[in-house]
Amino acid sequence: MNQNYWESLYQAGDLRWDKGAPSPGLVDFLATHKHLPGNTVCVPGGGTGHDAGEWARAGFRVYGYDLAPTAVRLSRARADSNGWQAQFRVIDFLRADPPFQFDWLFEHTLFCAIQPEERELYVRAVQRWVKPGGYYLAVNYLIPDTDGPPFGTTRAEILQRFSPHFHLLEDWVPRSYPNRTGLERIFHWQASP
Ligand SMILES: C[S@@+](CC[C@H](N)C(=O)[O-])C[C@H]1O[C@@H](n2cnc3c(N)ncnc32)[C@H](O)[C@@H]1O
Repeated sequence: MNQNYWESLYQAGDLRWDKGAPSPGLVDFLATHKHLPGNTVCVPGGGTGHDAGEWARAGFRVYGYDLAPTAVRLSRARADSNGWQAQFRVIDFLRADPPFQFDWLFEHTLFCAIQPEERELYVRAVQRWVKPGGYYLAVNYLIPDTDGPPFGTTRAEILQRFSPHFHLLEDWVPRSYPNRTGLERIFHWQASP
């Protein structure tokens, strides 16, 4: 799915994935982990900025990224109107180099939005963007769909792809938006030091 694909959805106002609120699993994670290490987080494929805002409200320096210029514009407007400390840029997360390596990287419906053939590129990008010893927090979408986006995955695939590079601290079924209940799983990983 290239930039034109996503940008044309935003321009058509077709944001069927956007629930108008941050990921409930992220909200709960940040509410129950008040003293997380580090203070920088990147949110690639962040859409219109709901999740970036939740990290900003938790006191993090937030860098949001998206392939679609309209998503970045909408995120900036949301941050401005809420007074969030967050920067937003247009980039292809799979291929770009980070401005610096982050303490945290938050995933929410980007892994399922890319072509399955690009998943190895995605894993390499997470390795590039997270600092040694940093954290990768992912809300993965465990659906069977092969005709995406969204493209499904399984817990077994997630473990097989990420375990060689990251240590799994914990994984669990989070609270979700009503139509995703029971279909999401959060994986909390730590990069090798
Ligand atoms: C399904 S939407 C999810 C948006 C947001 N995470 C949310 O849950 O509301 C996928 C987002 O990833 C963006 N995207 C797709 N491929 C990307 C890439 N290679 N680099 C950065 N963003 C990408 C799309 O433009 C879109 O905003």
